[in-house]
Amino acid sequence: MADKIQVKVPDIGDFDEVEVIDVLVAEGDSVEAEDGLITLETDKAAMDVPAPQAGKVLSLKVASGDKVSEGTVIAELEAVEGSESAQDKGSDEPSGSDDSDTDEDQSQPASDATEEATPAGEKQEVEVTVPDIGDFDEVELIDVLVAEGDEVEEEQGIVTLETDKAAMDVPAPHAGTIKSLKVKAGDKVSQGSVVAVMEAVVGGVEPEHSASESEPKKADKPESPKPGQDKKSEPTGDAGGGTDKGLDRGSLQAIDESGFAKAHASPSVRKFARELGADLVKIHGSGYKGRITHDDVKKWVKSQLRGAGGGAGLPQVPDIDHSKFGDVERVPLGRIKKISGPRLQASWVNAPHVTQHDEADITKMDAVRKALKSDAEAMGTKMTPLAFIMKACVHALREFPDFNSSLDPDGEHLVMKKYFHLGFAADTPNGLVVPVIRDVDDKSVFDVARELGELAEKARNGKLQQKHMQGACFTVSSLGGIGGTAFTPIVNAPEVAILGVSKAEMKPVWNGQDFEPRLTLPLSLSYDHRVIDGAAAARFTRYLADVLGECRNLVM
Ligand code: COA
Repeated sequence: MADKIQVKVPDIGDFDEVEVIDVLVAEGDSVEAEDGLITLETDKAAMDVPAPQAGKVLSLKVASGDKVSEGTVIAELEAVEGSESAQDKGSDEPSGSDDSDTDEDQSQPASDATEEATPAGEKQEVEVTVPDIGDFDEVELIDVLVAEGDEVEEEQGIVTLETDKAAMDVPAPHAGTIKSLKVKAGDKVSQGSVVAVMEAVVGGVEPEHSASESEPKKADKPESPKPGQDKKSEPTGDAGGGTDKGLDRGSLQAIDESGFAKAHASPSVRKFARELGADLVKIHGSGYKGRITHDDVKKWVKSQLRGAGGGAGLPQVPDIDHSKFGDVERVPLGRIKKISGPRLQASWVNAPHVTQHDEADITKMDAVRKALKSDAEAMGTKMTPLAFIMKACVHALREFPDFNSSLDPDGEHLVMKKYFHLGFAADTPNGLVVPVIRDVDDKSVFDVARELGELAEKARNGKLQQKHMQGACFTVSSLGGIGGTAFTPIVNAPEVAILGVSKAEMKPVWNGQDFEPRLTLPLSLSYDHRVIDGAAAARFTRYLADVLGECRNLVM
């Protein structure tokens, strides 16, 4: 029959009445040996109380906010039959969380250096071997971090191993000199494989002690962490390991080790963050008193994958603690901004942008618009310059088909579009959206104006559906109703160009004899320079300005 085990708070040093800040499991959960069950926090450290062996959580005896001390029963566990418990390793304490057990278990030096005990200060050759790396075997060695002859510090990483779950450094068991390396990048290693031989000064062992000591490793045993506390020398993804590179290798930025050590997070969250290469320094804690939770780490990693943190391989913007300089408030980004931000960034970093500025004389066009205004109003439609501008864009796109294309992902073809679906940027209380008017070429200026109004209203009311925002070939972003003289819109990739429109102003224009008042519309065309040349962009905007100026074929 399966054993029932009471899991108790182990020796937590001088602390008493310590707060439970997190309960990491629920009743009925299955847990592995050493999985954290609850997290305690003193004013000095957070620590998990781990499961003494694999099993099922029958009942929880504590909740977040409770105070516990050594010996407090926190949960009842039904142990999996045959699973090895901590007490199997030498303790009578049924909770399995006895300090001495976990010392034995956790304080094993990260590298199983097989040196003989020697008098303090004597140099000797020490093999650096792969320590216990859990269930992994034949793990790939992805990096050798030192060279023969190098002086290394104790705990400095010698090689880096990578499993499908984590990267981990094998640290030097002592300070010393690397005499020879026994491995190279690409080799496969397992627990006990010798990776290097070093000459080290192994100190602190009294000769008479070593004579009677059957376990020479203990002579060099680092101070034992308390159960579940950060295991600085443990060679899992969360190993400090001196030169720990965690999973930052490649795309993620290096972890700020001193900041990481001080971060307000439980050991299980630290371990989790290590496994994902997430730097706790950069993560905002949403838990009690700003504690970083598993969810915070997940969200941060997701945001990095989306590119919010600068994206893979991009230099990062300095992460500044603004509160050092004055009062601040942290408010969440709106949903639309969270979606559009990474897309804008993707376009900005992928497409080399150039913006071509020009002006169109829309005096005639505006007269036509005003003449149609009352008819439009009778139809319940507002006739703004934008409807004319969109119609004019179709003419320019027909004339310059490259502007109505997308760069094929192979980078060697253009996908030429034979349709004219135009997007327009709409400012809404929740952020910027881009509804699409389909087949603008087939529609009259009245139809376009009506659809503009309908879609803009839907956008403002948050009623746009996916189908309203798909399929655009080219986008117009009009700030004409607000003001400004020019701006540099970001191409709505994979489109290759976007037209920015600013506020039309009456300007004095020289006609050869006099200055004439002309209504002048500023145009700002941003384009993807991989597809569009500067000369083509200048021709496109000039052509567009002419079409608008002459108000040619814009109404029907
Ligand atoms: N020059 C001068 N006046 C202009 C103008 C221009 N280029 N464009 C519009 N106007 C006038 C309109 O005629 C209207 O005046 P009226 O009420 O006297 O007729 C007024 O400005 C307001 O127009 P608006 O309601 O903005 O309509 P619109 O059709 O021009 O634009 C939207 C509709 C949805 C595009 C617009 O409301 C919007 O959201 N613009 C912001 C887009 C944006 O944020 N772009 C930035 C992306 S980076």
